[in-house]
Amino acid sequence: MVMLGTVRRMGHSGPAHRPASPARGLPLPTLPRMRLAVCSSKGGVGKTTTAANLAAALARRGRVLAVDVDPQDSLGRAFGVVAKRPDESLAALLDDPDAEARAVIRRDVVPGLDLLPAHPALETAAAQLASAGGLVTSIRRVLRPLLADYEHIVLDTRGDLGGLTLAAVCAADAVLTVFTSDPGSALGVARVAAFLDQHRAYENTSAVLVGVACAVWDERGRAAREVAGALDDTDLPLLATRVPLSRRVPTSTLAKRPVVLSHPTSPVASAYLALADEVLAAAERVPA
Ligand SMILES: Nc1ncnc2c1ncn2[C@@H]1O[C@H](COP(=O)(O)OP(=O)(O)OP(=O)(O)O)[C@@H](O)[C@H]1O
Ligand SMILES: [Mg+2]
Repeated sequence: MVMLGTVRRMGHSGPAHRPASPARGLPLPTLPRMRLAVCSSKGGVGKTTTAANLAAALARRGRVLAVDVDPQDSLGRAFGVVAKRPDESLAALLDDPDAEARAVIRRDVVPGLDLLPAHPALETAAAQLASAGGLVTSIRRVLRPLLADYEHIVLDTRGDLGGLTLAAVCAADAVLTVFTSDPGSALGVARVAAFLDQHRAYENTSAVLVGVACAVWDERGRAAREVAGALDDTDLPLLATRVPLSRRVPTSTLAKRPVVLSHPTSPVASAYLALADEVLAAAERVPA
C-alpha cells in the first residue's frame, strides 16, 4: 500500500520515549501527574471515545479534569453533559480571561471526574483569539489556576491539527494519538508526530508523543493488521494495548456513560483500563 509506505518513511524525528528517570530520591512531582491531549489529524478515529474512557479509568485512582476542546462538544455528550449556552463552556473562558473556570466546570460528572464542557461557540471564540494572537496559549492559561486540583487532565481535541488542537497541545505535557484499520489514519499518526516535533521546535509546547494506540481493532480485518504493521516499522511509540471493535462502544455513547463505567468487566472496558495504565506509565517516563 502506497500510503503505508509513506508512513514507514515519515517515522518520527523527535524523542518517542525519553529515558526513564529514577523513581527514588526525586522530590514528589508537582500536580497534576499527567496532562494528556488526545489528538489526530483525521476525524472519526476514536479520539473522543478513547479520551472519555481514559478519563473515567484514571478517575478510579485520582481526581481527573476532562476538557472538551472540540466545538462539536462530543466529550461532554459522552458523559451526558451539554453546555446550553456559551457562558457555561470553555468558550466563555477563552472570551474573557477574567472568567472563573471553576464556575464553568461540572463537578463529579462521575465519581472523581470533573468536566469542562465545550460549546459550538468555541469556534468563533478561537477564531477571534487567533486573530488577536492569543489562541496558542489560551487553554494553558485557563487551566493554570486549576492544576493543583487534579491528578490528571485529559483534553479531547477535534480531528485536525488547527489552532484549537495546538492550544490543547500547549496545555498538555503528553499526547496520545489513535488510529483505526483505515490506512489514512496511520498517515494521520505520522502527521501528529511531525506536528509535535514542529511545535516543540517553535517552543510552543514541550509535550511529548507518549503513545500511538489502535482505538478500533478489528482482529479479523487484514487492513488493521497492515496498518499496525506499518506503524510498528517506524520509531513511533506504538502501544501494546489495542481497543477492540465492540458494539458496546456506540451503545455506551447513546447511554451517555463510557463503557469503562457501563460495562466495567467487558473486554473493551478492560482494554481501556490497560490503555490508561500504559499511557500513564509512558507519560511518567518523560522527565519533567
Ligand atoms: N472500539 C470501538 N468499537 C466500536 N466503535 C467505536 C470504537 N471506538 C470508537 N467507535 C465509534 O467510532 C465512531 C467515532 O468515534 P469518536 O467519536 O470517538 O471519534 P473521534 O476521533 O472523536 O471523531 P471526531 O474527529 O469527529 O471528533 C463513533 O461512532 C464511536 O462510537
Ligand atoms: Mg471527537
